[in-house]
Amino acid sequence: MILEGRFLAPPLEEPTRLTLCIRDGRVAGVSRGSSPSADVRLPDEWLVLPGIIDIHVHLRGLRLSYKEDELSGTLAAAAGGVTLVADMPNTQPRLDNTESIGLKLSALRRNSVVDYVVYAGVPRTPGEAERIASSGLVAGFKVYPEDLVEQGALEEVLYAAWRRNLLVVLHSEHPDMVKEGCKPGRRWECRPTTAEIEALRLISSVAPRGLRLHVTHASTPNLVLEAKSRGFTVDVTPHHILLDSRDEEKHGCIAKVNPPLRPPEQRERLIQLLISGDVDAVATDHAPHTVEEKMGSFDECPPGIPGVEHYTRLLLTLVSKGVMDLRDFIKLTSTGPARVLGIHGYGCVEPGCIASYTAVDLRREGRISGYETFSKAKLTPYEGMLYRGEPVATIVRGRLVYREGCVCIKPGWGLNAARLASRRGGRPPA
Ligand code: NCD
Ligand code: ZN
Repeated sequence: MILEGRFLAPPLEEPTRLTLCIRDGRVAGVSRGSSPSADVRLPDEWLVLPGIIDIHVHLRGLRLSYKEDELSGTLAAAAGGVTLVADMPNTQPRLDNTESIGLKLSALRRNSVVDYVVYAGVPRTPGEAERIASSGLVAGFKVYPEDLVEQGALEEVLYAAWRRNLLVVLHSEHPDMVKEGCKPGRRWECRPTTAEIEALRLISSVAPRGLRLHVTHASTPNLVLEAKSRGFTVDVTPHHILLDSRDEEKHGCIAKVNPPLRPPEQRERLIQLLISGDVDAVATDHAPHTVEEKMGSFDECPPGIPGVEHYTRLLLTLVSKGVMDLRDFIKLTSTGPARVLGIHGYGCVEPGCIASYTAVDLRREGRISGYETFSKAKLTPYEGMLYRGEPVATIVRGRLVYREGCVCIKPGWGLNAARLASRRGGRPPA
């Protein structure tokens, strides 16, 4: 397929009109300028960026399909300009054994419209972590707060991941330091920042040296700095940089999330770290729940904010306001996440590059609307927010998957990208 557009993707420094010849999902040839034989020609007002990768989403599916499933969640991703998602294992059944991982991957194979990887949960059965790690099916493991106090199971996962050079993604909150019962606007008091730091210290004390550890949804500047000082990678969410405890007070459950929204001064310092280069990626923690669930009482409703369909608009708005530039945007949404996952040559424009791209129109404006989404999760704390900058086309391995509101591909185009994630041949047994 021949794709023509105005690109800004590595190794380009400036937007440049290019024609790419794409074969088997990779760039086979590049020429400057237009081509009369282009299959897809994207207008000059659009800018084609490296494909956006969201390394933290909950597509749900299986018995939680009423909240979201592999089709609705990846349609939402495609409509948000996202070409690859990394899916979390807190499903029902949990993805902590090769059997449920097999079920999940088969649902993704049949339904996903974008590429994906899956993280496994921490198994409670001895030997299972090694079986999962050696299967080649997953990109890594997700460690939840409650896993941190299961020392045997945790260590098995850390060593199994280390031996295969798989990623370990940490939700860094110490389970013994968090409680329930705080009022809307004050949940940060129930889940203090010290719980984030303490969880990181705990895992660091048992992690083998050289483990690829990634701290996800860091909600405080101190956690970002602590993670970087230990040589780990770290992401932040759009909600922790755009919203704060006042939004939780105003929206109640719709803005309830773990880790919680923090007081405004934390958010401002987090934005500064985002643009100073200390943060490796922005990840949405897209956590869909139904309208009914989110209309429940604040104490009992489930935490989580959907984001995969909105965040490109939200971040491009920061670009339009001059808070960050396009270089920061590309680093935080594509090249950084690809590096965290260990995927090489993603969305660049040289022969051999994986031909996944996100086209954006930086001048399009609108208001965020939860109801006009592919996601089943319709309630968003960003409802009505003005944005400037919109994803207009999503190209996954050379195929146009989404263009201006329309999906142009059959379910099942997405592939498991776990084999692309770097394992450098694994490590010898410890
Ligand atoms: C997550 C979810 O809904 O799966 N929610 C969230 O607030 N991040 C689960 C969790 O991490 O607690
Ligand atoms: Zn999550």
